[in-house]
Amino acid sequence: MHTYIQDIARHEGQRVTIKGWLHNRRSSGRIHFLTVRDGSGFIQVVMSKAAVGDEAFQRADHLSQETSLIVTGTVRADQRAKGGYEIDAQSFDVVAPSADYPITPKEHGVDYLMDRRHLWIRTERQQAILRVRHEVIDAVRDYFNSRDFILADTPIFTPSACEGTSTLFPVQYFEDTTAYLTQSGQLYNEANAMALGRVYCFGPTFRAEKSKTRRHLTEFWMVEPEVAYADLDDVIRLAEGLVAEVVARVLDRRRTELTVLERDTRPLESVKTPFPRITYDEAAAFLVEQGLPFQYGTDFGGTDETVLSGRYDRPVAVTHYPAAVKAFYMKPDPAQPDKALCVDVLAPEGYGEIIGGGQRLDDLDLLVRRIEEHQLPPEAFEWYVDLRRYGSVPHGGFGMGIERCVAWICGLEHVRETIPYARMLYRLYP
Ligand code: 4AD
Ligand code: MG
Repeated sequence: MHTYIQDIARHEGQRVTIKGWLHNRRSSGRIHFLTVRDGSGFIQVVMSKAAVGDEAFQRADHLSQETSLIVTGTVRADQRAKGGYEIDAQSFDVVAPSADYPITPKEHGVDYLMDRRHLWIRTERQQAILRVRHEVIDAVRDYFNSRDFILADTPIFTPSACEGTSTLFPVQYFEDTTAYLTQSGQLYNEANAMALGRVYCFGPTFRAEKSKTRRHLTEFWMVEPEVAYADLDDVIRLAEGLVAEVVARVLDRRRTELTVLERDTRPLESVKTPFPRITYDEAAAFLVEQGLPFQYGTDFGGTDETVLSGRYDRPVAVTHYPAAVKAFYMKPDPAQPDKALCVDVLAPEGYGEIIGGGQRLDDLDLLVRRIEEHQLPPEAFEWYVDLRRYGSVPHGGFGMGIERCVAWICGLEHVRETIPYARMLYRLYP
């Protein structure tokens, strides 16, 4: 019976067939040890000459890495085995050969591996990361669905900028129109929230970021909730609840993967709500106190975020940035109009910003003025301004970048390993 390796424990003592690829092989004269993977897991197949016969035993001695094969044998519990079980082979068939597989168990450089990303994802470590990514996405969906949010998709081709004009990707849209790949679904999300109350969108977003940092991709996935009749405090509570729930879910269901990744899970265990909250001013004062060359009034850089988030054992919510460094749609704080009612959530252990959001500008005249000040084309925003003409209400939301979240939870050096095919300044292949 075709069995997936992940289910092997249910078949102890039984005869099973696994369909997969040869990951690794070693021999000790009379016995071959084949590590076989099938996408659901890895298992050691023990093949003795006595069990499979001379001819098959000889053939197995020439199997190369990533040969696809089907193995039939009996499941045996073994304390020493990684997953607790091994298979004693009775027969096997090669499905297709694999000659000179380019990724061997030896160390390869990251560029070499990224050029072969379509094969690199077959390794145990990369599979573990992609499984955690899956769990994060699943947890995100459950979080919003269980709270009665409606998934409302936003377009990828857009006529205008959401997050500043410097990171737009233009696309030729038929003969004489330029469209831009979406930087964020937020503006449409706001319209959807006015229709449906509590909504979220979840899709790929694009930024022509000329930065080569470990936190930037040009194509990344963002989940963005938006809520009508919500203020900044509601937004922060929704955000911290999401982060805490996602982390708890991965700890609960992806222990094996975190072990493969050698992730110290103790820092993740302390990710509980409420998160500490500080204002931009408090954060700025702390950075200056620490002797960082931080200029008051500017946005935080990567190092600033690392130092700031390093103070806490869980993510920190930083609020009230100067309106001047934030997007045009941010609502000013009535008590200090040069500050925005916004929040960035910074992950600990040096990971920095994983969430950005806040309360939206709901005043018609001020919004029109901001669009002008930011030199955005007013005609492209007419529909957005309409939301302030027809029953404007306080509202807010945020965006969480999936890759940054996964990089942090997995404890990775760089976001490029958190997505199957990373798109970066110098990377469009494979
Ligand atoms: O802070 P950002 O730019 O906020 C927005 O786009 C808002 N419109 C979201 C909203 O309120 N609905 O981006 C949100 C998050 C960041 O905190 C980060 O996690 C991720 O998106 N992000 C990136 N991830 C990878 N590569 C990039 N270049 C990213 N830019 C933003
Ligand atoms: Mg941001």
